[in-house]
Amino acid sequence: MTTFLLSSLKSRLKQGITQVDQWLLHRVLPYIYHWPGVAALYYLANVNFRREQRTVLAARIQHAAMQRRLHNITPISPLNTQRGLARHKDGIAGIAGNGIAGHPPFENGRNFGHPPISLSAQHATQALSELKRNLHRLEKGLIMRPRKAIFALDYIENTLQLLFTLTTYARTCLIERADPVTAQADATAVGTTPLVQLLTHLDYANQVISAYFAATTDWHLQQQEIAGLPHAFSQWQQLDFAALQNLRQRASVQGEQTVQGLVNHGIHASNINSVPVRTHESNHHTEDVNIPAMGKVPFPAAERVQSDVSYTDFYRLCQQRRSVRHFLPTPVPTPLLQQALYAAALAPSACNRQPYRFIFVNEHPLLAKLAKLPLGTQGYHAHIPAILVVIGDLSAYPLERDRHVIYIDSSLAAMQAMLAMETLGLSSCAINWPDIDRYEIQIKSLLPLADYERVIMLMAVGYADPSAGIPHSEKYVKLDVLPGSHGQINN
Ligand SMILES: Cc1cc2nc3c(=O)[nH]c(=O)nc-3n(C[C@H](O)[C@H](O)[C@H](O)COP(=O)(O)O)c2cc1C
Repeated sequence: MTTFLLSSLKSRLKQGITQVDQWLLHRVLPYIYHWPGVAALYYLANVNFRREQRTVLAARIQHAAMQRRLHNITPISPLNTQRGLARHKDGIAGIAGNGIAGHPPFENGRNFGHPPISLSAQHATQALSELKRNLHRLEKGLIMRPRKAIFALDYIENTLQLLFTLTTYARTCLIERADPVTAQADATAVGTTPLVQLLTHLDYANQVISAYFAATTDWHLQQQEIAGLPHAFSQWQQLDFAALQNLRQRASVQGEQTVQGLVNHGIHASNINSVPVRTHESNHHTEDVNIPAMGKVPFPAAERVQSDVSYTDFYRLCQQRRSVRHFLPTPVPTPLLQQALYAAALAPSACNRQPYRFIFVNEHPLLAKLAKLPLGTQGYHAHIPAILVVIGDLSAYPLERDRHVIYIDSSLAAMQAMLAMETLGLSSCAINWPDIDRYEIQIKSLLPLADYERVIMLMAVGYADPSAGIPHSEKYVKLDVLPGSHGQINN
């Protein structure tokens, strides 16, 4: 009796809420819409965006903390002072003026930079994201036609600061763990960058900055008084990257020279000439995929990889990829999935920040719990053999205006992953992740997620059951080709 009363009360309440919602939607909101300030009040009372707002806030706080940390580590601008990087016979000992310079240089040729800088692994990941953005901007400046004689003045200092700090951080990590493959400041930190990947990016950074200074040295030398750039140049020249390069090479040799090893250890795609790839027919059979070595940065368009995939072949691949919801009970090997992600990592992302990571779950009981969590897996979750979770990292874009970019960047990567899976014999189905409080709490209890991360989507992955159905889902193209005189353009 009590249960009956409770459930009828509940359904009445639900009806009431729906009626108020409809009334607002039809009678109030169309008027409120015209006054942004009042519309904001509506969203003050509406909880639906709060989770995203909190994540954006967490990302801003995290980013600010990283900046503060960087500032504390390198309070003296290397560009505006003669006190900069201390030079020791074996490399950098630290940044002068912050208590690091003056410490003993390397001992036994292994001890890089002392004392350790307490940059957390998470801050290092964010600093790397910022460094990647700056490097991208430098490379873009270098390819401009005509190229400006002066550019990057507003961020070259910051770029060098990030480079110096991350170099010292990487070296510090390497002191603590002898094995560069597994070395990481904090192995328990959520979603942080593997050290080998950091080393690779520092190498890349070195090459970009080298190209930048090569293109602008004449000007810098003539303009001694401007922003201390010639001094920065000489500081940068003193950086000893040979030791880092050696370590990185050692790390790649230690790491398995397969796509799996490369992805595991974060070796950058552009650093290797050819990688053996496991195919789905046989886990042991390998074939070579040519990947350009990190040659010149930036490099001429004529030197980019040319595929021999025809439009027809590509179109067929797109036709082949359909959302599959019923799978064979065959397990999905992690290396195969990693191969798909290796292709996904090549997707474009705003300023190349790649603000996403993936979690792969192919074992019970976590798989079962995860598969039934989203609303969209009802009716087929029990037989999903593996789930890929796509996670966006908002700390890469800490400004509110860019909060949407994580969704775009990770979706582009996810699409590439889905197409790559098809070439490997795997099928997939994207699964919507609803922005509902209860679900957010549940997924956070299952997966390691930082406050500034958002689940973008889930993906069911497996070998398609050939006897199961696939909705036809008719498609269309919406395209407007406008004449040059369309609309009012004022400038
Ligand atoms: C962002 C996104 C979310 C989706 N969410 C679900 C979902 O929750 N459950 C599901 O069964 N399919 C989901 N799908 C699959 C779509 O239903 C499917 O892509 C669409 O019907 C077109 O079919 P096709 O993928 O076979 O071309 C999703 C697809 C996308 C892109």
